[in-house]
Amino acid sequence: MGAHGPPHPPSSHNKHRTSSSSSKGGGFFVPRAVCAWLIVGFVALALLHVLCCTPPGTQEAVLSPLLQYVDDTYNFVSSSGAQNCSHSEGRWVYAPGHARRYNATECGVKDSHNCIRNGLPDTGYLDWRWQPAGCRLPAFSARAFLSAVRGEHVAFVGDSMARNQAQSLVCLLAAAVPHRVVYRDPDPRKFNLWRWAFPAYGVTVSFYWAPFIARATGKAVNDSLPQNMNHVHLDALDDRWAADADAMDVVVLAIGHWPLNGAIYYNNSVEIGHHGHQDRASTRVGYAIPMRHAYRRALDRLMVTSAAGRPRTVVLATFSPAHFEGNTLTTMCPRKEPYKPGEKELRDLEKELVSIVYEEAEAARARNGGGDGDGVGSRSRVEVLDVTKLAVMRPDGHPGPYMHRDPFAHEVQPWMTADCLHFCLPGPVDTFNEILQQILRKRR
Ligand SMILES: *[C@@H]1O[C@H](CO)[C@@H](O)[C@H](O)[C@H]1NC(C)=O
Ligand SMILES: *[C@@H]1O[C@H](CO)[C@@H](O)[C@H](O)[C@H]1NC(C)=O
Ligand SMILES: *[C@@H]1O[C@H](CO)[C@@H](O)[C@H](O)[C@H]1NC(C)=O
Ligand SMILES: *[C@@H]1O[C@H](CO)[C@@H](O)[C@H](O)[C@H]1NC(C)=O
Repeated sequence: MGAHGPPHPPSSHNKHRTSSSSSKGGGFFVPRAVCAWLIVGFVALALLHVLCCTPPGTQEAVLSPLLQYVDDTYNFVSSSGAQNCSHSEGRWVYAPGHARRYNATECGVKDSHNCIRNGLPDTGYLDWRWQPAGCRLPAFSARAFLSAVRGEHVAFVGDSMARNQAQSLVCLLAAAVPHRVVYRDPDPRKFNLWRWAFPAYGVTVSFYWAPFIARATGKAVNDSLPQNMNHVHLDALDDRWAADADAMDVVVLAIGHWPLNGAIYYNNSVEIGHHGHQDRASTRVGYAIPMRHAYRRALDRLMVTSAAGRPRTVVLATFSPAHFEGNTLTTMCPRKEPYKPGEKELRDLEKELVSIVYEEAEAARARNGGGDGDGVGSRSRVEVLDVTKLAVMRPDGHPGPYMHRDPFAHEVQPWMTADCLHFCLPGPVDTFNEILQQILRKRR
């Protein structure tokens, strides 16, 4: 597709939005259903005109912005009609091809998440869409997403699930609009810091590796150390992202797995506790308290307006759990379909991690002067991107052994393992961005 912008200026969105929200107040506004039919009628006439009155060569050129308009309008109508819809509850429904949206090789995802390239034979995990309870979640639209964040810097900060979602987002966007890689981690196995630009919309998307949000050394920066050997400084944010924080407009924070693995915690360089180190004399602080401290510090840093004077949107993503089952390469995550409603409930640990996020979001809003986070005045917003339930229900869609290229082409090596945590790209994690799109479009 070409480099042109959306077929209508962003201000028309705002007009739609204003009239739609004031119609609730009982003023003289056209009811939403009538509006939708008028749009349908208009589009049908326009289509008819295009199909009978223009030469075939130009039909595609005319149709593609038109279809985009329909898509954007549909996005708008369906999301505004569902203000009370919670995207966090729902079920996965069979929708052939729904998640077949991009070629992961072309947007340079981590090799270990590029399941199709790695030879994964059964790609049925791409044939499902998330059906929230009570509304329809519109499919991702690159142009609608970019229009919603025009001129802004969207930053993902966190662990490898934050990276998984960030890579999904750039793939979804890059499949539809021209882009440029601004910066890329020189180590292709890590992808710990990178930035992509979408110049037609002035949008940049970055990822910052910070698995504790706070400043961390040890395993967090050196793979060869044991899993629990992290040194985390709760009095400081991780330097790399904190240095750019002023220039971020939308910040998605996603952590959880690393605090569970264990760490030694410091305040002003004094050890104040640990998790997962039986040999240490300091207090056992667990994972929840340090996570709360890290969220608080980050939120206090981000709830002020950005350097550009714009209110920010901070999005806290909830925990996306792993699905390890058996102990051989082929049985570690063997399932081929999503769980059905009622088949898999959240574990207590998952519930606890989700409530930490909701509570810290609520506490940040209260510290920020109250409000429900709908961007009152110039204040920044904090939102929860609650993906835990929908992720729990997707035991399929992980790379499994196909984190390696053609894992069974030769003898299976003892060092080979399966990835039952991250999602294949494309895959279920694209849905995280479909929900993020709704969160961002809701802004004023
Ligand atoms: C939306 O939710 C609020 C609070 O739960 C409730 O008061 C309101 O009636 C709901 N509106 C609709 C249209 O369901
Ligand atoms: C993805 O793109 C790569 C490189 O352009 C190509 O070799 C590969 O066949 C494509 N894969 C699919 C599934 O289309
Ligand atoms: C990573 O940890 C290993 C094991 O302690 C150590 O030998 C190595 O020097 C460390 N690498 C870096 C870059 O610090
Ligand atoms: C760190 O120390 C400061 C000053 O003594 C104190 O206010 C703060 O609460 C401490 N933070 C943590 C996480 O213990």
